[in-house]
Amino acid sequence: MDTSPTPQGRPPELPTRVTGLVLRALTAEDADAYYALLDRNRLHLSRLGDFRAEREATPAWVRAHLAEDPGPGLRCGILLNGALIGRIDLVAVDPPRYGTGYWLDESHVGSGYASAACSALYGHAARALGATEVFAGVTHGNDRSVALLRRLGFEPVADFEDYTRFRLVLVP
Ligand SMILES: CC(C)(COP(=O)(O)OP(=O)(O)OC[C@H]1O[C@@H](n2cnc3c(N)ncnc32)[C@H](O)[C@@H]1OP(=O)(O)O)[C@@H](O)C(=O)NCCC(=O)NCCS
Repeated sequence: MDTSPTPQGRPPELPTRVTGLVLRALTAEDADAYYALLDRNRLHLSRLGDFRAEREATPAWVRAHLAEDPGPGLRCGILLNGALIGRIDLVAVDPPRYGTGYWLDESHVGSGYASAACSALYGHAARALGATEVFAGVTHGNDRSVALLRRLGFEPVADFEDYTRFRLVLVP
C-alpha cells in the first residue's frame, strides 16, 4: 500500500468486504489515537505474554515507534467508520515470503473484522507486492488467533516450544 498522502492529505485506504471497514497506513499522525487504543487494550494484548512492548507503551514510545519506516513491509491501522479499532502488519521477512501480525480492540472482537482485514491485506500483498506466502506465529493457547488463521486457509507448518508457525500459500 502506498503511504504517500492523497491530494486530500491522508494516506490511501484499502477497502475490505465489510462496509465501513478499511485499512490505512499507520503513521506518526496517528500517534494519539494509537496510544489511546493501546492504553485501553493492555490487558487484552498481554494475556498470553505477547505484545510486551505494547503492554508497557508510553506516548513517547508510540511516537517513536510510528516514526519508524516499516518499509518494505506494511503497517496498517484497521478503521471502522473512521475510528481506529486495530492494527495489521505485513513484515518483509524474506520477500516474496512475508510475516504477519494483527490485533483488534477487545470490544470489536467477534464480528469478523480481523478476518476481513487479513483477507484484504493478503490479497493486496499478492496483487501489488507479488507475495507468495504469509507466515504467522501463534502462541500456544491463542485459540481465537488459530481460528482466524484456519478460516483464512492457513495451515500449521512447524511447532515450537511456545508457538506454532502457520503458513498461507497465496494464489497469484
Ligand atoms: C486474534 C484476534 C484478532 C481475532 O479476532 P476475532 O474477532 O475473533 O477474529 P475474526 O475477525 O475472524 O472474527 C471471528 C468471530 O466473528 C464472528 N463473525 C461474524 N461475522 C463474521 C464474518 N462475516 N466472517 C468471519 N467471522 C464472523 C465469528 O463467528 C467469530 O465469532 P466467535 O468468536 O463468537 O466464534 C483477536 O482475538 C485479538 O485481537 N486478540 C488479541 C491479540 C492477538 O492475540 N493477536 C494475534 C497474535 S498471533
